[in-house]
Amino acid sequence: MTERLEPLIEHLPKAELHLHIEGTLEPEMMLALAKRNNVSLPYDTVEEIHAAYRFEGLQDFLDLYYAGMSVLVEARDFHDLTRAYLDKMAGQGVRHVEIFFDPQAHTDRGVAFETVLEGITGALEEGERELGITSKLIMCFLRHLPEEQAFEALECACRHKEHIHGVGLDSGEAGNPPEKFSRVYAAARDEGFVPVAHAGEEGPAEYVRTALDDLKVARVDHGNHALDDPALTARLAREQTPLTMCPLSNLRLKGIDRLEDHPVKRAMEAGLLVTVNSDDPSYFGGYINDNYTAVADAVGLSAGDVVTLAKNSFAASFLPDADKQAHIDAVDAHAERFAGDAD
Ligand code: ADE
Ligand code: ZN
Repeated sequence: MTERLEPLIEHLPKAELHLHIEGTLEPEMMLALAKRNNVSLPYDTVEEIHAAYRFEGLQDFLDLYYAGMSVLVEARDFHDLTRAYLDKMAGQGVRHVEIFFDPQAHTDRGVAFETVLEGITGALEEGERELGITSKLIMCFLRHLPEEQAFEALECACRHKEHIHGVGLDSGEAGNPPEKFSRVYAAARDEGFVPVAHAGEEGPAEYVRTALDDLKVARVDHGNHALDDPALTARLAREQTPLTMCPLSNLRLKGIDRLEDHPVKRAMEAGLLVTVNSDDPSYFGGYINDNYTAVADAVGLSAGDVVTLAKNSFAASFLPDADKQAHIDAVDAHAERFAGDAD
């Protein structure tokens, strides 16, 4: 199966809609930036870092994720990080990215919001100019922190509306339900930011429902546990609210025991607008094409299913309708060429 689909997936046009830019920090870059910025890390080698990446759950991962990003200090660090990700994506058929960043994880340790934004947006502009990859930036609120601090982040975002398209919600889900941020999201929507939120990754189906009803999200990040609730599943299908699923993340964070148990195929069969993404690829062992290939193999997706996932990635994006259609046409053209070559 993998052998058959890998060549189709390799250059299939696609969008990535669930990607934390800080989660692309590769061990090599972590060590290099630690040296450049004089930051001390609990690791000396790439092997030690890899050995530490065995997670028992989301919180276990988050502890290392926040510690790792302490090496990101100057605008050029955020630039180099973002540029390295885009360079990789240019070789994986990725035409458009909608990426998350976690400003509170940086401002909390004294790095200015503007420093973070300058580095990321500079690289995103280069990515469009030099690699032809378009992008939108989504600022996440850290849900384990108080509402008041989310309001402070929103205030910063309001000064940079030209660079920030949406707001999201990430970090530890258990005990931090979406409704904790109802008022921040209402304010963010009033300011014109498009709302999305992580929900149903470790949390229950109820968190997906309150993300929809209280935060009024346009897209649900992960959403796996929505599938536990038939009425909610039917609603997501009816309303075509996209889910941005991340198979290797779910496996590495022990949301599932085996990739064969991943709900992506069940979600597609239930009529949901599902997409496949990488979440924090440096930490979870694979970028977007690894996620497509591994999950297709594990749950038995057909070539047609893979093409549908790629089309969904554009349909679920925040691109204008005409751009979505042009990308979807390119997916069809690629699939037809591929089928022709395979004959
Ligand atoms: N921050 C980075 N990756 C995350 C994930 N998978 N869930 C919640 N918060 C995150
Ligand atoms: Zn995520």
